[in-house]
Amino acid sequence: MKCRVCRGPAVIDIRRHNANFCEEHFLKLCHDQVTRAIAAFDMLSPGDRVLVAVSGGKDSLALWDILLDLGYEVDGLYLGLGIGEYTEASGCHVRRFARARGLNLREVDLRSEHGFDIPNGSRAAKRPPCSACGLSKRHLFDRATRDGGYDALATGHNLDDEAAVLFGNVLRWEGEYLARQLPVLPAGNGFPRKVKPLVRLSERETAAYCVLRGIDYQVEECPMAEGNRHLGYKAALNAVEAQSPGTKHTFYFNFLDRAAGLFRDRMTEAEAGLDTCTRCGSPAAGEICSFCRLAERATGAGPPVRPGSRSQDGVLA
Ligand code: AMP
Ligand code: FES
Ligand code: ZN
Ligand code: ZN
Repeated sequence: MKCRVCRGPAVIDIRRHNANFCEEHFLKLCHDQVTRAIAAFDMLSPGDRVLVAVSGGKDSLALWDILLDLGYEVDGLYLGLGIGEYTEASGCHVRRFARARGLNLREVDLRSEHGFDIPNGSRAAKRPPCSACGLSKRHLFDRATRDGGYDALATGHNLDDEAAVLFGNVLRWEGEYLARQLPVLPAGNGFPRKVKPLVRLSERETAAYCVLRGIDYQVEECPMAEGNRHLGYKAALNAVEAQSPGTKHTFYFNFLDRAAGLFRDRMTEAEAGLDTCTRCGSPAAGEICSFCRLAERATGAGPPVRPGSRSQDGVLA
């Protein structure tokens, strides 16, 4: 197996590119794919202050590493979701990464700062854990980005994630979610800009990136996500990809080129219908945003009122 670029010994084959790469050229490929995504979707500008949401997994740690290499000023944000040992171990990976490189890491602990965690919050609200978790993450990401005065929030969603979410949304023709399923959501209505610079990389590639760069990441999957629909969609797409390499890339990028615009009105309609949460000031579909409703059910009281704080509400991750 020879590297496509230098003909030296290859360390990875990438079937959708029909090519093999040595360590040096694979790492360069990862940087180039991120640079290309950022440029194609106008995600970031030189000098932007970026907050990267880091879970301790391979994608978000690889993203932090690559954005720093590309010269952006990037701080990290870790949310402690209170999912037992999984949360403890994930936090350790993030802190170790930040400490070793002298990086600035912000932390939000759901239990101590908002009085609930994902297991008891989802039980109390009778919501599936991933739904309570998703809405909490979106709310806290927005709030931290705004409070810290960052230009954009970056997440580690990769091509496999985006193709699987798209697949689920198409199976149910979820117009509003399809409207928002973009690699960049511009700032507006008090929402921060949100970007997904890893959309051109698969999770196999981000894992290989971390191994080659010596980044120690959380390998375990979240125990609460076991058996959820999203993992089923990933498995189905993996089966198709194995038969026909490149299908995920085509599915996702052709959606962006040819179909995403058809749903744009649904986003405008949804935003026009937003009110302001009377508890925390975030945009809300009713009087109280879904994060404050969740916190209220989980704790028997609302979270502290934070006038002026706004966050995105009710959208799929
Ligand atoms: P997930 O929704 O778990 O697939 O994660 C998608 C992205 O959200 C990750 O790549 C991270 O950027 C971010 N993320 C997930 N969990 C956390 C967390 N506990 N703290 C900070 N960011 C997170
Ligand atoms: Fe959110 Fe597992 S990380 S439910
Ligand atoms: Zn090479
Ligand atoms: Zn609220």
